[in-house]
Amino acid sequence: ITRSIVRGCGSYLPARTLTNAELAAMVDTSDDWIVQRTGIRERHIAAAGEVTSDLAVHAAEQALSAAGLEAQAIDLIVLATATPDHTFPASAVTVQAKLGITGGAAFDVQAVCSGFVFALATADSMLRTGGFKRALVIGSETFSRILDWKDRTTCVIFGDGAGAVVLEAGEQPGTIQDRGVLGARLRSDGRHKDKLYVDGGPSTTGTSGYLRMEGKEVFRHAVTMITSAVEDVLEATGTKASDIDWFVPHQANQRIIDGCAHKLGVGREKIVSTVAIHGNTSAASIPLALHTAVADGRIKPGDLVMIEAMGGGFTWGAALIRW
Ligand code: ACO
Repeated sequence: ITRSIVRGCGSYLPARTLTNAELAAMVDTSDDWIVQRTGIRERHIAAAGEVTSDLAVHAAEQALSAAGLEAQAIDLIVLATATPDHTFPASAVTVQAKLGITGGAAFDVQAVCSGFVFALATADSMLRTGGFKRALVIGSETFSRILDWKDRTTCVIFGDGAGAVVLEAGEQPGTIQDRGVLGARLRSDGRHKDKLYVDGGPSTTGTSGYLRMEGKEVFRHAVTMITSAVEDVLEATGTKASDIDWFVPHQANQRIIDGCAHKLGVGREKIVSTVAIHGNTSAASIPLALHTAVADGRIKPGDLVMIEAMGGGFTWGAALIRW
């Protein structure tokens, strides 16, 4: 059977870091409050003129180099972002052009914080149909551009960054011991759309707007939604939670991450957490965390890696990868 096999990954963070202490000088907050409620200590902020496609290209180049591939080997780019360079065209085509790729297909996926899981599942499906050979799956965000920097309830939570993986279609015998994306589950429920949204857009206000969030409501649903998606993937792949080598969640909030791991019975030592130093980078957070754990030697080929996310919409989902 055809599987989508991870060939390499990469990430990029803008140079500028913004600490909790700096935020406390901007709005009525404190390092203590932010750390207690979210686990976040600092986040990266894109430089003026540095746009989502720029971050994505840096991450993609690193992933290509890890895979030992030239950009031209890629025939599919799926970019997850809620902060595209423009309303259209898709930022994925800008990434494609910047990488010098002129063939194949490139498009954006919009599922906010769940974007990377949605993009990975989309690329995996397209590779398994045989229509494409090698995909760049990227999560890239510049949430600093849609934050109301006077609103302490949101501006302390998010950051900018990008991460990417190269997936390649390959024949595998088809047991869970074989490498590749083993399964994914995606969910949405638009009844929750007003709990986390941007208050503008081309078809409503004509402006780009600011992020608005009912934090408590997001928190209330997060653990249940995420764990049900993870449990569905475990069941569909005939895997037990104890088989998971690395649990790589969307980095929204340390309390949500810990709550999910606890409910699933995943040991603390298996959690990859970067929220303290990246903040919530939306669709970029999972590939940033994946690359962090690959670069420091935790995730190795053959490891069983569970990714999961929940975000605006609400959207949520999970995917299991034999790395
Ligand atoms: N600094 C200091 N005080 C603050 C801040 C701040 N940055 N923000 C809010 N407060 C105050 C509030 O005004 C409130 O004050 P009051 O009691 O006088 O009214 C008090 O702190 C408590 O506010 P709550 O909103 O009740 O705080 P809560 O414990 O719910 O924590 C938080 C807020 C951190 C946003 C939490 O609800 C949360 O983590 N929610 C999940 C949100 C999330 O992860 N969003 C990410 C996007 S979605 C995703 O990626 C899954």
